[in-house]
Amino acid sequence: MAVRHFLTLLDLSPAELQRVLARAAEMKRDRAANRLPPGRIMAMIFEKASTRTRVSFEAGMVQMGGHAMFLSPRDTQLGRGEPVEDSARVISSMVDIVMIRTFGHDIIERFAAASTVPVINGLTDSFHPCQLLADIQTFIEHRGPIQGKRVAWIGDGNNMCHSYINAARQFDFELVVACPQGYEPRADLVAANAGRVSIVRKPLDAARGAHLLATDVWASMGQEEEQARRAQAFAGYQLERSLLEVASPDAIYLHCLPAHRGEEISAELMDAPDSVIWDEAENRLHAQKALIEFLLTA
Ligand code: CP
Ligand code: NVA
Repeated sequence: MAVRHFLTLLDLSPAELQRVLARAAEMKRDRAANRLPPGRIMAMIFEKASTRTRVSFEAGMVQMGGHAMFLSPRDTQLGRGEPVEDSARVISSMVDIVMIRTFGHDIIERFAAASTVPVINGLTDSFHPCQLLADIQTFIEHRGPIQGKRVAWIGDGNNMCHSYINAARQFDFELVVACPQGYEPRADLVAANAGRVSIVRKPLDAARGAHLLATDVWASMGQEEEQARRAQAFAGYQLERSLLEVASPDAIYLHCLPAHRGEEISAELMDAPDSVIWDEAENRLHAQKALIEFLLTA
């Protein structure tokens, strides 16, 4: 059977995504019950910083009886210009599964095309599908199925926003993106999902009636030098209490983290005792374990 990769949410069918999330919930309930055949090895290639992605993949592999190997460009030949395809052939001949966090989405696509084992996207400039597995798991856990719900994205039309667009398609919900002019998500993605994705300028318009509100940093990794300009452009795009007041009374809000209190999210919401953001972060572990199991047994 052809090797399965997870480069975007579209690599699994809606039914397969539901299966992975149902399994993630089982794995969360009973951490000891999930084991891979012994000795499975994951190579984790990180070209950008990470806390959650690294810790969740590494802990997940060990909990399942496997091993995870951290590879940074500083210490590998990838960082010295060895072609992506050559690296993929060699690394995939020695391990069972690969996770990559990198810049251009084309890099992970090229790696996957030359890899003989499943490749998981741990974030590119364009998509962050593993985070969406955790976000949807968190919504289901607290509020039930997300199908037919209204989701508000407040802020940058970035990699997270793109994955929310794919999630709207795969999990069948409505997505309203509130962003400043010039910071919209990719036009082709919006056009391909025109029936369920719309763009507005005012955060309040996105938040009205929403069951889920989500945001992310104004300047993503690799955009550090744009921070000041972006802080100006995104003033007024903070996920804060007034948005929850016009949302559905049972609305929850998410942030993939790391967060900047007082910028894209208020300190009050970040530190609210009923915030589910910490569940969202923990669910990276459970959702990815279910994904790894799926990819290694598909
Ligand atoms: N949300 C997320 O991917 O966090 P890290 O950058 O810490 O991995
Ligand atoms: N959009 C952010 C997400 C971090 C998890 C970034 O790419 O830096």
